[in-house]
Amino acid sequence: MAKELLSVQPYKGTRDFYPEDMDLRNWFFGVIKDTLRKFNYREYDGPTLESYDLYAAKSGEEIVNEQTYHFQDNGGRMLAVRPEMTPTVARMVAAKLGSLNMPLRWFSIPNLYRYEKPQRGRLREHWQVNVDMFGSDSIETDFELLLVASSLLKAFNADETMYCIKINNRRFYNDLFEQYMGFDKEKSRKVSKAIDKKGKMSQEAFCEYLAEIGLNGEEIEKLNSFFEKSFEEMMELCPESKGTIELKSLFKLIEEAGMSNICEFDFSIIRGFDYYTGTVFEVYDKDINNNRAMFGGGRYDNLINLFVDKANVSGIGFGFGDVTLENFLVSHNLVPELKSGMPKVLVTRFPEVPYIEYLKIAELLRQNGIAATVYTDEKKLSKQMKYAADEKYDFAIILGGDELAAGTVVVKDLSKGENETVSREDLVNKIKI
Ligand code: HAM
Repeated sequence: MAKELLSVQPYKGTRDFYPEDMDLRNWFFGVIKDTLRKFNYREYDGPTLESYDLYAAKSGEEIVNEQTYHFQDNGGRMLAVRPEMTPTVARMVAAKLGSLNMPLRWFSIPNLYRYEKPQRGRLREHWQVNVDMFGSDSIETDFELLLVASSLLKAFNADETMYCIKINNRRFYNDLFEQYMGFDKEKSRKVSKAIDKKGKMSQEAFCEYLAEIGLNGEEIEKLNSFFEKSFEEMMELCPESKGTIELKSLFKLIEEAGMSNICEFDFSIIRGFDYYTGTVFEVYDKDINNNRAMFGGGRYDNLINLFVDKANVSGIGFGFGDVTLENFLVSHNLVPELKSGMPKVLVTRFPEVPYIEYLKIAELLRQNGIAATVYTDEKKLSKQMKYAADEKYDFAIILGGDELAAGTVVVKDLSKGENETVSREDLVNKIKI
């Protein structure tokens, strides 16, 4: 009977990261971390497993019921594999509320799991840059998060023709539906879920869906007109709303900062999570092949209250996924040739020279900031050289019996194909040049 072999494929919707994939991932996370540190954001991390209740409380039906991996541990506790980071960071902030100096600027790059239908831009495991501020209610804070989002893309040399930031406000949305349309909270919530899905269905299906959740023809017509109106016309519908005031102030700052060409009001941006209360936004790639949001975020006033009663500490932030970022960088040709900062050297071997002599050379190089490896097998020099070329080493060192006796080595520059004999003392300088 044939032996049954195991599959080499990773679990559906997850990826293996081979070294070249890690080179890319480490490069772009490096750019992101450097940029965030320039804005004085500090890195934090949390556990992959959290109590299931953490998400059930505020994340929203779809993510909790359909997308969260959960299980019972041996002690009978219901746990979830984190589908997002925001509840974790809110829990961490709440746990140390008394001792933290507000406002906080924090970031993290966790891997998250969601039971999704894998497709371009959406997988079951992704890494998500989370950038959040806590303890500041000012509109300047909302603006800062938009500026940071845009700066992250600019750090990759993206220009303003490549992306746009679409902005709405939950307070404006709620007041519009409750005060102007006369809907109760439940009807207004159901409509928000419909609008959140609007981009994924035809106009006809959208109207049918609205009718199903109880809107009459006149209400459907009114709602559809919101997507046609200008920002100014929309603001006039609900002039007293705090959301209107926030949106107007935010767009004034956007204009003053010269960001009007990348920021736009978009009433269809609702965001799926139930915890958002104010500004909400998403960043989109303008390449039509990348039609999923690259960043999503907003202000959430009540998450800390889940842990500390009447804490009154608001948060605002966004998440930015590695899958959509990679699609963006590749589509816009923004991935440079990736090289480590150190020269790479292979110390080749001959059988007549003791291995320890090669080790000494490699150690000398490493102590001087040069990445050095001694070839461990006894193979022909041509094989060792081929390995060095295939692995993109910059230099190979050749040390036979004659060089050992003379206190020299041969340095082969693999990019130029040139050999030079140098003394051991000059070796480091030769390679550093
Ligand atoms: P989100 O909109 O669910 O927000 O995700 C943010 C970003 O993460 C998306 O725009 C996308 O780039 C990426 N993303 C989400 N799901 C997937 C997936 N299945 N596959 C690949 N990429 C994905 C949140 O998670 C909020 N907790 C963000 C936040 C932080 N809000 C405030 N602070």
